Amino acid sequence: MIRKAVIPAAGFGTRFLPLTKAQPKEMLPIVDTPTIQLVVEEAVASGITDILMVIGKSKRAIEEHFDRNIELEQELQRKGKEKLLAQVQRISSMANIHFVWQKELNGLGDAVSYARSHVGNEPFALLLGDTVLESYSAEPVTKQLIHVFEKYNGSVVALEEVPLENVNRYGVLDGNETEKGVYRVSDFVEKPDPSEAPSNLAFAGRYVFTPDIFDFLIQTGRGKNNEIQLTDAMRSMAKCRPMFGCRFDGTRHDIGNKLEFIKTNIHYALKHSDLKGPLSVYLKELARSL
Ligand code: UTP
Repeated sequence: MIRKAVIPAAGFGTRFLPLTKAQPKEMLPIVDTPTIQLVVEEAVASGITDILMVIGKSKRAIEEHFDRNIELEQELQRKGKEKLLAQVQRISSMANIHFVWQKELNGLGDAVSYARSHVGNEPFALLLGDTVLESYSAEPVTKQLIHVFEKYNGSVVALEEVPLENVNRYGVLDGNETEKGVYRVSDFVEKPDPSEAPSNLAFAGRYVFTPDIFDFLIQTGRGKNNEIQLTDAMRSMAKCRPMFGCRFDGTRHDIGNKLEFIKTNIHYALKHSDLKGPLSVYLKELARSL
């Protein structure tokens, strides 16, 4: 049973400056909901009951968002806004949420290593706080990974098929398909040239790890950008432990990238009952003028 999850959300978010100077990119909205709330909802819908968020400077808004706001609750009650009240109360009661501060921003691998004592000797899920994974099946993507973990008893990384010409933007899988959508990992290649890429299956921001990932993180020196890279620890781990890739049924929305953020908001707004009609009219008018 996997009951713990780690959500790294300490990064500078330099691709979103100046917004991220004093505000977390993980709080950027998808229509009206902070990205990190959708990440927590995915974890909870996958059976997670205990979440550790790794935060840093300028990230207080994340702590406040998951705390109770009694005055707001009283105000909503007084005004009879029961539906909003239930929504607001749910945010602070979905899971046990804990915080740890990444002291220096030394990369994703470093952020994950802060979770060691909290996670202890249990397998855990890792969900990037700036990435929403939309599932096309009845199960959230983290749950899809948990199934693979339970069946194969090894760490699992979510994989998304990307156009071959774009593989040079991602870490991609080198491995063989063992059953439909499940791959045995032999290695990963960072940002390969399309002509040399071993696959077009890219990392998608969700993982399930056995706790020995922490041993590999300790041994991992600084890599790209002089940071401790999770991918480097995973490469070492894949050499001596079984590791699997899960080509999930769904789409990744990385809101740390401006264009993706805008596209994601349009995508979800078009699913929103109040916004769909007027936004469609606007987009059609706009498209005619382009
Ligand atoms: P990114 O590499 O996308 O985040 O990390 P970043 O470094 O904040 O982004 P840019 O490139 O400067 O725009 C993916 C996730 O890992 C977290 C980030 O907060 C994000 O949710 N992260 C990254 C950490 O928690 N600590 C780090 O040192 C780096």
